[in-house]
Amino acid sequence: MKGLFITIEGNDGSGKSTVIQSLKEELAKLDVEVCYSREPGGSYVAEKIREVILDTDNMAMDDKTEALLYAASRRQHLKETVFPALEEGKIVVCDRFIDSSLTYQGIARGLGVDEVYNMNMFATEGFMPHLTIYLLVDPKIGLERKSHQKELDRLEKEKLEFHEKVYQGYLMLADRFKDRVRVVDGNVSIQEECKAVNDIILSFIKERGF
Ligand code: TYD
Repeated sequence: MKGLFITIEGNDGSGKSTVIQSLKEELAKLDVEVCYSREPGGSYVAEKIREVILDTDNMAMDDKTEALLYAASRRQHLKETVFPALEEGKIVVCDRFIDSSLTYQGIARGLGVDEVYNMNMFATEGFMPHLTIYLLVDPKIGLERKSHQKELDRLEKEKLEFHEKVYQGYLMLADRFKDRVRVVDGNVSIQEECKAVNDIILSFIKERGF
Protein backbone atom coordinates (compact mmCIF):
# COMPACT_ATOMS: atom_id res chain seq x y z
CA MET A 1 0.00 0.00 0.00
CA LYS A 2 1.24 3.44 -0.93
CA GLY A 3 0.04 5.52 2.02
CA LEU A 4 1.19 5.98 5.59
CA PHE A 5 -0.67 4.86 8.69
CA ILE A 6 -0.04 6.94 11.81
CA THR A 7 -1.80 6.28 15.11
CA ILE A 8 -2.10 8.50 18.16
CA GLU A 9 -2.50 6.83 21.52
CA GLY A 10 -2.67 8.02 25.09
CA ASN A 11 -4.18 7.46 28.49
CA ASP A 12 -7.45 9.25 29.26
CA GLY A 13 -7.00 13.02 29.64
CA SER A 14 -3.66 13.12 27.81
CA GLY A 15 -4.78 15.92 25.48
CA LYS A 16 -5.15 13.66 22.44
CA SER A 17 -8.09 15.52 20.88
CA THR A 18 -6.37 18.92 21.08
CA VAL A 19 -3.15 17.45 19.73
CA ILE A 20 -4.97 15.92 16.75
CA GLN A 21 -6.73 19.23 16.05
CA SER A 22 -3.38 21.03 16.03
CA LEU A 23 -1.88 18.36 13.76
CA LYS A 24 -4.79 18.84 11.34
CA GLU A 25 -3.98 22.54 11.10
CA GLU A 26 -0.27 21.82 10.47
CA LEU A 27 -0.87 19.15 7.83
CA ALA A 28 -3.42 21.34 6.07
CA LYS A 29 -0.52 23.66 5.18
CA LEU A 30 1.15 20.87 3.17
CA ASP A 31 0.24 19.44 -0.18
CA VAL A 32 -0.71 16.00 1.19
CA GLU A 33 -3.99 14.13 1.40
CA VAL A 34 -4.85 13.10 4.93
CA CYS A 35 -7.69 10.97 6.22
CA TYR A 36 -8.54 11.36 9.93
CA SER A 37 -10.26 8.55 11.72
CA ARG A 38 -10.81 7.08 15.17
CA GLU A 39 -11.31 3.86 17.08
CA PRO A 40 -13.54 2.40 18.21
CA GLY A 41 -15.49 3.50 15.15
CA GLY A 42 -14.28 5.16 11.97
CA SER A 43 -16.79 3.57 9.60
CA TYR A 44 -20.56 3.10 9.59
CA VAL A 45 -20.61 -0.42 11.04
CA ALA A 46 -17.67 0.25 13.38
CA GLU A 47 -19.46 3.32 14.82
CA LYS A 48 -22.43 1.05 15.63
CA ILE A 49 -20.08 -1.27 17.51
CA ARG A 50 -18.61 1.78 19.31
CA GLU A 51 -22.05 2.69 20.65
CA VAL A 52 -22.40 -0.76 22.21
CA ILE A 53 -18.89 -0.70 23.70
CA LEU A 54 -19.08 2.73 25.34
CA ASP A 55 -22.74 2.66 26.44
CA THR A 56 -22.90 3.16 30.22
CA ASP A 57 -25.98 0.87 30.30
CA ASN A 58 -23.67 -2.02 29.37
CA MET A 59 -21.86 -2.28 32.71
CA ALA A 60 -22.40 -6.06 32.67
CA MET A 61 -20.17 -6.46 29.60
CA ASP A 62 -17.65 -9.27 30.01
CA ASP A 63 -13.98 -8.28 29.55
CA LYS A 64 -13.42 -10.76 26.71
CA THR A 65 -16.59 -9.55 24.97
CA GLU A 66 -15.22 -6.03 25.26
CA ALA A 67 -11.87 -7.04 23.73
CA LEU A 68 -13.62 -8.89 20.88
CA LEU A 69 -15.86 -5.91 20.14
CA TYR A 70 -12.87 -3.56 19.92
CA ALA A 71 -11.21 -6.02 17.53
CA ALA A 72 -14.42 -6.35 15.48
CA SER A 73 -14.68 -2.57 15.20
CA ARG A 74 -10.99 -2.47 14.18
CA ARG A 75 -11.48 -5.07 11.44
CA GLN A 76 -14.40 -3.21 9.94
CA HIS A 77 -12.60 0.13 10.18
CA LEU A 78 -9.54 -1.26 8.38
CA LYS A 79 -11.60 -2.76 5.57
CA GLU A 80 -13.96 0.17 5.05
CA THR A 81 -11.78 3.18 5.78
CA VAL A 82 -8.05 2.61 6.36
CA PHE A 83 -7.09 0.18 3.60
CA PRO A 84 -8.92 2.06 0.82
CA ALA A 85 -7.30 5.36 1.90
CA LEU A 86 -3.84 3.79 2.02
CA GLU A 87 -4.36 2.24 -1.42
CA GLU A 88 -5.03 5.75 -2.70
CA GLY A 89 -1.71 6.88 -1.23
CA LYS A 90 -3.19 8.96 1.59
CA ILE A 91 -1.78 9.54 5.05
CA VAL A 92 -4.20 8.07 7.59
CA VAL A 93 -4.10 9.54 11.10
CA CYS A 94 -6.06 7.46 13.55
CA ASP A 95 -7.11 8.35 17.09
CA ARG A 96 -6.27 5.03 18.88
CA PHE A 97 -5.59 1.58 17.40
CA ILE A 98 -4.27 -1.81 18.55
CA ASP A 99 -2.09 -0.41 21.36
CA SER A 100 -5.25 0.74 23.16
CA SER A 101 -6.49 -2.86 23.19
CA LEU A 102 -3.11 -4.13 24.37
CA THR A 103 -3.03 -1.83 27.38
CA TYR A 104 -6.74 -1.32 28.27
CA GLN A 105 -7.84 -4.93 27.70
CA GLY A 106 -4.53 -6.82 27.84
CA ILE A 107 -3.04 -5.09 30.86
CA ALA A 108 -5.66 -3.04 32.72
CA ARG A 109 -8.43 -5.66 32.34
CA GLY A 110 -5.84 -8.39 32.86
CA LEU A 111 -6.59 -10.46 29.75
CA GLY A 112 -2.88 -10.66 28.87
CA VAL A 113 -0.98 -8.68 26.24
CA ASP A 114 -0.09 -11.72 24.14
CA GLU A 115 -3.65 -13.06 24.21
CA VAL A 116 -5.09 -9.72 23.09
CA TYR A 117 -2.31 -9.26 20.53
CA ASN A 118 -2.94 -12.68 18.99
CA MET A 119 -6.68 -12.17 18.91
CA ASN A 120 -6.13 -8.84 17.14
CA MET A 121 -3.86 -10.47 14.57
CA PHE A 122 -6.92 -12.33 13.30
CA ALA A 123 -8.69 -8.99 12.84
CA THR A 124 -5.77 -7.07 11.32
CA GLU A 125 -3.95 -9.87 9.47
CA GLY A 126 -0.74 -8.55 10.99
CA PHE A 127 -1.13 -5.02 9.68
CA MET A 128 0.52 -2.49 12.02
CA PRO A 129 0.96 1.32 11.97
CA HIS A 130 4.08 2.85 10.43
CA LEU A 131 4.35 5.28 13.34
CA THR A 132 2.59 5.54 16.70
CA ILE A 133 2.68 8.39 19.20
CA TYR A 134 1.95 7.70 22.86
CA LEU A 135 0.80 10.80 24.77
CA LEU A 136 1.36 9.98 28.40
CA VAL A 137 0.04 12.03 31.30
CA ASP A 138 0.11 11.26 35.00
CA PRO A 139 -3.22 9.35 35.39
CA LYS A 140 -4.26 11.54 38.34
CA ILE A 141 -3.91 14.67 36.20
CA GLY A 142 -5.61 12.91 33.26
CA LEU A 143 -8.65 11.97 35.33
CA GLU A 144 -8.83 15.42 36.88
CA ARG A 145 -8.96 16.92 33.34
CA LYS A 146 -11.71 14.47 32.33
CA SER A 147 -13.78 15.12 35.47
CA HIS A 148 -14.87 18.49 34.01
CA GLN A 149 -16.57 16.66 31.13
CA LYS A 150 -20.34 16.37 31.51
CA GLU A 151 -20.74 12.75 30.50
CA LEU A 152 -18.10 10.08 31.00
CA ASP A 153 -18.23 6.89 28.92
CA ARG A 154 -18.04 3.35 30.33
CA LEU A 155 -14.23 3.22 30.22
CA GLU A 156 -13.70 6.72 31.60
CA LYS A 157 -15.84 5.78 34.62
CA GLU A 158 -13.20 3.25 35.71
CA LYS A 159 -11.28 4.02 38.90
CA LEU A 160 -7.82 5.57 39.19
CA GLU A 161 -6.27 2.14 39.73
CA PHE A 162 -7.45 1.05 36.26
CA HIS A 163 -6.00 4.19 34.66
CA GLU A 164 -2.68 3.65 36.49
CA LYS A 165 -2.50 0.22 34.86
CA VAL A 166 -3.28 1.68 31.43
CA TYR A 167 -0.44 4.18 31.92
CA GLN A 168 2.05 1.54 33.08
CA GLY A 169 0.92 -0.65 30.19
CA TYR A 170 1.75 2.03 27.66
CA LEU A 171 5.25 2.40 29.17
CA MET A 172 5.81 -1.32 28.81
CA LEU A 173 4.52 -1.35 25.23
CA ALA A 174 6.71 1.63 24.30
CA ASP A 175 9.68 -0.51 25.18
CA ARG A 176 8.36 -3.56 23.35
CA PHE A 177 7.53 -1.65 20.17
CA LYS A 178 10.50 0.75 20.19
CA ASP A 179 10.84 0.84 16.42
CA ARG A 180 7.34 2.14 15.82
CA VAL A 181 6.48 4.10 18.99
CA ARG A 182 7.49 7.60 20.09
CA VAL A 183 6.50 8.73 23.61
CA VAL A 184 5.47 12.36 24.17
CA ASP A 185 5.19 13.84 27.67
CA GLY A 186 1.59 14.93 28.33
CA ASN A 187 2.41 16.62 31.65
CA VAL A 188 3.70 19.78 29.95
CA SER A 189 1.56 22.63 28.55
CA ILE A 190 -0.79 21.70 25.74
CA GLN A 191 1.12 24.01 23.37
CA GLU A 192 4.38 22.19 24.07
CA GLU A 193 2.66 18.83 23.67
CA CYS A 194 1.17 19.84 20.29
CA LYS A 195 4.52 21.12 19.06
CA ALA A 196 6.31 17.91 20.07
CA VAL A 197 3.79 15.77 18.18
CA ASN A 198 3.72 18.00 15.10
CA ASP A 199 7.53 17.98 14.92
CA ILE A 200 7.72 14.18 15.10
CA ILE A 201 5.02 13.61 12.49
CA LEU A 202 6.21 16.29 10.09
CA SER A 203 9.73 14.95 10.04
CA PHE A 204 8.47 11.36 9.72
CA ILE A 205 6.32 12.07 6.68
CA LYS A 206 9.13 14.09 5.11
CA GLU A 207 11.55 11.18 5.60
CA ARG A 208 9.01 8.93 3.87
CA GLY A 209 8.92 11.21 0.87
CA PHE A 210 5.51 12.90 1.36
P1 TYD B 1 -13.15 7.83 23.26
O1 TYD B 1 -14.40 8.59 23.56
O2 TYD B 1 -12.71 7.73 21.85
O3 TYD B 1 -12.05 8.36 24.25
P2 TYD B 1 -10.68 9.09 24.06
O4 TYD B 1 -11.01 10.50 23.76
O5 TYD B 1 -10.03 8.89 25.39
O6 TYD B 1 -9.94 8.38 22.96
O7 TYD B 1 -13.35 6.39 23.89
C1 TYD B 1 -12.53 5.38 23.67
C2 TYD B 1 -12.35 4.59 24.95
O8 TYD B 1 -12.14 3.24 24.61
C3 TYD B 1 -11.11 5.05 25.72
O9 TYD B 1 -11.37 5.07 27.11
C4 TYD B 1 -10.09 3.96 25.42
C5 TYD B 1 -10.93 2.76 25.16
N1 TYD B 1 -10.35 1.79 24.22
C6 TYD B 1 -10.05 0.51 24.67
O10 TYD B 1 -10.23 0.20 25.85
N2 TYD B 1 -9.56 -0.41 23.78
C7 TYD B 1 -9.37 -0.13 22.47
O11 TYD B 1 -8.94 -1.00 21.68
C8 TYD B 1 -9.70 1.20 22.00
C9 TYD B 1 -9.52 1.56 20.56
C10 TYD B 1 -10.19 2.13 22.92
